[in-house]
Amino acid sequence: NTKVWKVDKYVDNLENNPQVVDAANFLRDNEVVALPTETVYGLGGNATSDVAVAKIFAAKGRPSDNPLIIHIAEKKQLSTFVAEVPDKAEVLMEAFWPGPLTIIFKKKEGVLAESATAGLETVAVRMPDHPVALALLKSCGLPIAAPSANSSGKPSPTNAQHVLDDLNGKIAGVIDGGATGIGVESTVIDCTEAIPVILRPGGVTKEQLKAVIGEVRVDAALTDEAARPKAPGMKYQHYAPNAPLFMVSGTTQFLQSLVEEKRTAGLRVGVLTTEEQVDVLEADVVLACGKRAELETVATALYDTLRKFNLEQVDIIFSEVFPNEGVGNAIMNRLQKAAGNKLIAE
Ligand code: TXA
Ligand code: MG
Repeated sequence: NTKVWKVDKYVDNLENNPQVVDAANFLRDNEVVALPTETVYGLGGNATSDVAVAKIFAAKGRPSDNPLIIHIAEKKQLSTFVAEVPDKAEVLMEAFWPGPLTIIFKKKEGVLAESATAGLETVAVRMPDHPVALALLKSCGLPIAAPSANSSGKPSPTNAQHVLDDLNGKIAGVIDGGATGIGVESTVIDCTEAIPVILRPGGVTKEQLKAVIGEVRVDAALTDEAARPKAPGMKYQHYAPNAPLFMVSGTTQFLQSLVEEKRTAGLRVGVLTTEEQVDVLEADVVLACGKRAELETVATALYDTLRKFNLEQVDIIFSEVFPNEGVGNAIMNRLQKAAGNKLIAE
């Protein structure tokens, strides 16, 4: 059965906390353990062990061609498995680590499990900004491969209960360190090219990246549906609730009219909106996902809200859309994937 370690992220000396040390021992034994980060919960395993990595892929039901992010607690760990650190990557690490930025480097061969990087010549690395994650990484002393701790295709987990809902009985344990803060995954940036390329929008915005390294490109697949994404994981359907989800752009009245039409047809209808409109809209289930005026709060609540529609057993979901700028890039990217790009425009 899956062990649950409850750890208060505000206590001192977390590295020697008995719960953290116990979890670290499981990692050293090549077992897989879910851990809180500042973005979403990750499913950690020893990145130097094909045995541990195989357990990660099996528990999630993840396609094996989708490489994992390697998590570290100290910059000096980089040189053990990264072949070269370009100047711009150095600047990015200085500015955003620890934090929600994953950097793609050229890989040093023969150190990490081949399965962790899905056989690529590059490796994705991040240093999470969460006291429990950092303590666990330090305590086990290993580079830890950690995808989001959800079943493949489901919304990512932002609390320990989400992890258990998907993976109870399939993983050795989960450290319950409370709800994550940012709520969407890290930004993935490829620094193996002269002009770094954003492969996945996330917790660090394009505007923030430009402010420190100047020119930044965006992978064509993020704007052009036909292009093949450079991050293998971006090609998969993702984050999807059980019921079909439609993004709706237009007035509140337009959204309400879509709801009426489906309710008349006998469907149980869900609406994803924000605090500003939650009392205005009428449907079987109306959920506020943060405040539109503060998009960070929408990011924080997004996956939990998508999961709540499953508990409410709706037949169809209509969602508002959000401004595609700042953290809105990440929100809209996840919403588009959750909706399979289905958009109804007024
Ligand atoms: O915030 C996060 O990044 C969370 C927490 C747990 O740290 N992790 C996470 O991992 O979101 P995951 O596995 O769900 O997403 C990793 C993404 C995938 O889209 C994958 O294809 C891409 O990073 N990726 C990993 N290694 C890559 C590489 N060498 N080249 C290109 N893309 C890579
Ligand atoms: Mg994921």
